[in-house]
Amino acid sequence: MRGLGGKVAVVTGGARGIGAATAVRLAEENVAVAIGDLHGEEAEALAGKIRADGGKAVALRMNIRDDESVDALVAAAVDAFGGLDLLVNNAGGSLGHDRNVAENDDRLWSATWDLNLMGTVRVTRAALPHLRARGGGAIVNIASGSGTLATPGLAAYGTSKAAVIQLTRNVVAAYSHEGIRCNAICPGMIITPGASSAMPADVIARIADRIPMGRTGTPEDIAGLVTYLLSADAAYVNGQVIHCDGGARDVGPSGPARGTTA
Ligand SMILES: NC(=O)c1ccc[n+]([C@@H]2O[C@H](COP(=O)([O-])OP(=O)(O)OC[C@H]3O[C@@H](n4cnc5c(N)ncnc54)[C@H](O)[C@@H]3O)[C@@H](O)[C@H]2O)c1
Repeated sequence: MRGLGGKVAVVTGGARGIGAATAVRLAEENVAVAIGDLHGEEAEALAGKIRADGGKAVALRMNIRDDESVDALVAAAVDAFGGLDLLVNNAGGSLGHDRNVAENDDRLWSATWDLNLMGTVRVTRAALPHLRARGGGAIVNIASGSGTLATPGLAAYGTSKAAVIQLTRNVVAAYSHEGIRCNAICPGMIITPGASSAMPADVIARIADRIPMGRTGTPEDIAGLVTYLLSADAAYVNGQVIHCDGGARDVGPSGPARGTTA
């Protein structure tokens, strides 16, 4: 894709799943990547593999819930590669005991908000001066389909991802004039370590049966869209909320399951 070679990116949550696939894909496009993750050893192993394959990567154990380690990740990118152009706010997820609105206690609501919304705010805030210093840049926020349609039992997660979508629009409103674009991706059912540990296989199979394309998504499906949105091919794409879900969101629950004629 155009305009990526020689750029520098930070990818949060880049040790596993969507973040890992994104780091690999960006490195293949000659982007130098700084991978931040709670799992420092896995992040370092992935960075080592990228380097072994001829790419540029560094890794840092960090937590998007902690300002100091967020600053350290951004500093690691700038120190290693001389600046920062691109940011993928991917780290996040649902906390295992998320339920419905009234069943979640204040601690669960706050922790989920702190992870998904405030984590994205922290990394964006730390990255912005560096994007500005380069005369612009691009940000992709990984939200969720649960941020645009309610998913029963994921009240705090879905609400926090809706906030990530609105954050995306506020970044656009405030910083577009500085050459900084920001878009949000809402993945559907993507098979990752996180998704597989949160959902039993039969539930995933039932969801897959309702996906018009007849399959769940892969981390690479999302990584390709992230890469496009960061590239110069998307130079006029800004403030968009893009569902990447095999068409799942566009087929209502009352419709027939895939392959049936009723
Ligand atoms: N997999 C899906 O079906 C799906 C659907 C919609 C949205 N998403 C979103 O995509 C993103 C990635 O999800 P995934 O399925 O690849 O998850 P995953 O659990 O497989 O990987 C997430 C990575 O982020 C890291 N991480 C988690 N919290 C962190 C923190 N506080 N600080 C730093 N790193 C942290 C984890 O260690 C892990 O390496 C998440 O924001 C998630 O909400 C995923």
